[in-house]
Amino acid sequence: MEKKPYMKPTIVRHTPGGVLNKFGRPPQTVPMRRIEGFDVSELAGEYGSPLFVLSVRELKRKYRELDRTFRTRYPDFQLAYSYKTNYLKSVCSILHQEGAWAEVVSGFEYDIAADLGVPGGRIIFNGPYKTRGELKRAFENGSIVNIDNYDEMQVIEDLAEEFGRTLDVGLRINMDLNDPPWHKFGFNYESGQAFEAVRRATSGGKLNVVGLHMHTGTYVDDLTIYSRGAQGMIDFYRLIRDNFGVRLKYWDLGGGFASMNTLHWAYLPAEQTTPTVDQYADAICSVLLAADLGGEEPPKLFIEPGRAIVDDPFYLITSVAAQKRLPNGRRAVVLDTGMNMISSVQWYRYQFQSAQDSGTTVEDTTVYGALCMNIDVINHSLSLPPVRRGELLVIPRVGAYNLSQSWQFIYLRPAVIAIDDGRVHVIKRAETREYVQQFEQVPEDYSLPREPADGAAS
Ligand SMILES: Cc1ncc(COP(=O)(O)O)c(C=O)c1O
Repeated sequence: MEKKPYMKPTIVRHTPGGVLNKFGRPPQTVPMRRIEGFDVSELAGEYGSPLFVLSVRELKRKYRELDRTFRTRYPDFQLAYSYKTNYLKSVCSILHQEGAWAEVVSGFEYDIAADLGVPGGRIIFNGPYKTRGELKRAFENGSIVNIDNYDEMQVIEDLAEEFGRTLDVGLRINMDLNDPPWHKFGFNYESGQAFEAVRRATSGGKLNVVGLHMHTGTYVDDLTIYSRGAQGMIDFYRLIRDNFGVRLKYWDLGGGFASMNTLHWAYLPAEQTTPTVDQYADAICSVLLAADLGGEEPPKLFIEPGRAIVDDPFYLITSVAAQKRLPNGRRAVVLDTGMNMISSVQWYRYQFQSAQDSGTTVEDTTVYGALCMNIDVINHSLSLPPVRRGELLVIPRVGAYNLSQSWQFIYLRPAVIAIDDGRVHVIKRAETREYVQQFEQVPEDYSLPREPADGAAS
């Protein structure tokens, strides 16, 4: 009898879903057929796939929760929305309608805020690189400017001379609170740099230090970083008040609050680790309000959250482009979107939900993005029910940093719609090739000869 060639077996472990499970159906098998009452497949049919979807109700809810929680604890409080997290004009505008000020970190962002009609006095201008022209405009408009470095301080002193008046400024400081600490921005507290910076600023006679700013990181779920930071801010204020007579109008504790997405290296899901808004507010406000400022009114408190407001209200609808079996027997699916549209896959273990009922059996699956690049892996190991080409998946919580950091690469970027009170608004149209290539030109020397219209080769 002829010996048959050995064939490696493929053993697929199927994990039974909720039917026999006393905890009920596992979340990844519960289909998400509708977003804010709209059928996911109809939305994709009308506006295309992939498609970003904003729940305006959820965006407002997030903002209001943060604003109310801090406002009820701290008498003079103002939230400034961090534009860089997602500067879609409609998103910023909705948040301004709700009462947010703008926190911007470049001239480009400053212009967006100004064009939306945000008064100059409600724009906080941060960041390590601001041009002289941008700084001049910011001071002319009465914006709040937080100085990042000595070079910038010098430019602002020159502007003060040009204006013929002293200029109110804030100073960005950093502290050794996290590991690694964010020393890139501002002046360090522990080393004495920040103290020297205030000495330098106040000794020139052209600047009036009225604010302190600190932003310690992003997705900070360690509450002690905020309470220790707030204490450091108080100690530093006392020091510069006693030494240089500084009187603060504001202190700005930055942003950094975590969202409900889970980080790759986290052991527990974000639902169990992300502090509540009340906890963040307590960590900051209780320390600041307990400060003995010798009868002085506490300065205005700013916070500048981004992620905690816009991450959760956005969804990405994506469709399955292909499925395949890897040589080790593992199932893989390829999506019609990639890490160029959700760059936060570097940090987040995104969860997916099928938009149709795909049964209760899940299989450990590798999810690949659409880019023709090996690194484009959306999730190395995701329990996913069976899905076929053309079927839709929904990725919740994609609103922070993905849209502002997206890159156009081999595909056009998709549309963004907002669902608000039963209505759908297109807040960004899908890109076209004409839009992407509008600034390109091909000099005549490089132009190819055109074939005759019938295209017949001779
Ligand atoms: C100065 C400043 N403020 C606020 C933010 C917003 O941070 P997050 O989105 O983590 O709240 C950032 C982002 O890193 C920032 O650099």
